[in-house]
Amino acid sequence: MNIKILNKTAIALVANSKGILAMDESHPTCKKRFDDLNINVSEESRRSYREMLITAESLFNYISGAILFDETIKQKTKKNVPFPDHLNTIGIIPGIKVDSGAKPFSCHPNEKITEGLDNLPKRVEEYKALGARFAKWRAVITIGENIPSKACIIANAQALARYASICQEMDIVPIVEPEVLMDGAHDINKCFEVTNETQSIVFEALDKLDVNFSGIILKPNMITPGNKCNSKSSVEEISKLTIKCLENNVPKEVPGIAFLSGGQTDQDASNNLNYINKFNNNPWKLTFSYGRALQLEAMKRWQGNNNNILEAQKIISNRAHLNSLAASGKYDLKMEKNKY
Ligand code: G3H
Repeated sequence: MNIKILNKTAIALVANSKGILAMDESHPTCKKRFDDLNINVSEESRRSYREMLITAESLFNYISGAILFDETIKQKTKKNVPFPDHLNTIGIIPGIKVDSGAKPFSCHPNEKITEGLDNLPKRVEEYKALGARFAKWRAVITIGENIPSKACIIANAQALARYASICQEMDIVPIVEPEVLMDGAHDINKCFEVTNETQSIVFEALDKLDVNFSGIILKPNMITPGNKCNSKSSVEEISKLTIKCLENNVPKEVPGIAFLSGGQTDQDASNNLNYINKFNNNPWKLTFSYGRALQLEAMKRWQGNNNNILEAQKIISNRAHLNSLAASGKYDLKMEKNKY
């Protein structure tokens, strides 16, 4: 493990108000998104879509890293350039999702445990040879009746820690993603309580496995009410509770925190990040690693038709730009009116 390399990569991923593009949807998730828009599902349509994203003009001004999927990291542009090489050429760091998904958690109905530790050292080595310099592992915590169980949080935290240790040994920065899902009718205080406990247990597990905090990126959910909650929360409340939760749990050595969007609207994801940055007096950089809140509008415009590539690219670049402004507290909702 070379901590200087790890720290340098982690710092680069959150520098200059740039964020990380999550384009690592598994085949089933990608199929669902394509099906919703009547887009033909094939290896070529996935390749073509992802090429549209990573060749968008000026994307590199706002995006520091791109999380790829197993299929994507091996794909090439139409000009026959491997995706990781193209990303490196334009100054975007290639990364890779290495978990194999959230599966039913034994003896715990309605809860999930993320799998993928089998053969992980070998897979990380292969991805590194293909150009990956960072990785992602997503754990999922669900709020519901009598859940989450402590067992679910502990099991997921242990897997995250083991994954992070394996990545660091190979100088690959682990993005540690404990996602407390927005699904449900719970209020913002319940989200705070569960996220706070989750982050506490995750950092304890990382510490127990000697994971070096200066060589990781945390990818958490923001503290928001559930998507079926009757009472709405203000952007100020969301921001303050999100910062409070991080201050309770995240060591100062962690270079940066890149939030997931988790089902928020594009505008909410940008506006909340903007306010979080306004309230942040901590050493960590606070930025975005969005999937849906960066891509969905561009995917709708692309619609599987390569004649729409330029229009779709304007949309993804604009969204990335707005989120980059939010990562430095310079976003304003009024900017949403200035379309491309
Ligand atoms: O693991 C989840 C993705 O990396 C982030 O996706 O922003 O759509 O929640 P999201």
